[in-house]
Amino acid sequence: MEVIITKNYDEMSKKAAQIIANQIQKKPDTVLGLATGSTPLGTYQELIRLNREEGLDFSKVTTFNLDEYLGLSPLHKESYNYFMWENLFKHININPENVYIPKGDVQDAEEFCRCYEEKIKEVGGIDLQLLGIGSDGHIAFNEPGSSLMSRTRVKTLDEQTIKDNARFFTKEEEVPRFAITMGVGTILEAKKILLIANGEKKADACAQFIEGPVTSQITASALQLHQHVTVVLDEGAASKLKRIKYYNWIRNNKHLVQKYLGR
Ligand code: PGA
Repeated sequence: MEVIITKNYDEMSKKAAQIIANQIQKKPDTVLGLATGSTPLGTYQELIRLNREEGLDFSKVTTFNLDEYLGLSPLHKESYNYFMWENLFKHININPENVYIPKGDVQDAEEFCRCYEEKIKEVGGIDLQLLGIGSDGHIAFNEPGSSLMSRTRVKTLDEQTIKDNARFFTKEEEVPRFAITMGVGTILEAKKILLIANGEKKADACAQFIEGPVTSQITASALQLHQHVTVVLDEGAASKLKRIKYYNWIRNNKHLVQKYLGR
């Protein structure tokens, strides 16, 4: 796991966008896994800028979103479908046919989840998966206690997540109790993973998933089992890590790391 500590949210966002842009430049028909929430907003803004000002081409890119509230129609203002179109897709040259987001108003959720997994396989799997992290250590909506082998399915949201996400709704009671989410097992099959986090409210979750044991109580800790994970944090989110000096040394000596490890 490569841990990159940046000064602030802006630097975190630009670094994350650069990693995504490099991936698209290397493989124009990249399959991206995308996330919602406050954390990736700056990353999406920078990707929009790269698309408009520097010609970053999304025309062959395919995307799969991690999750969606169950019970919200795709047009609902708090649906993740609406979020993605407002904050990224409508501003870039992506082909709408290549955009996949779980449907919150689907009739047969179980069948939908099975097809979603199949579709990911059909396009050859996810090349780069972008993740945020919940203050309870979740990735996507894989709440504490989720199986680390789990697949796309319906999940009951944790009380902490409902509290955290209430800020987007007029009252806490309006936050849906269920969601469709990719499983931890689904996420671990992505070829590369990029997790971003900012602010001190994420510091405990980050210390636990990076330096603590692998446990279903902090589902992000399952990323320790993956071979290619990059974590980009701001100083607040990194503030409870014990090995900051080590991570910074690696970042500041990239030329040596490249020379000896070839990456
Ligand atoms: P946030 O959510 O980016 O809004 O903090 C992250 C998450 O819950 O995964």
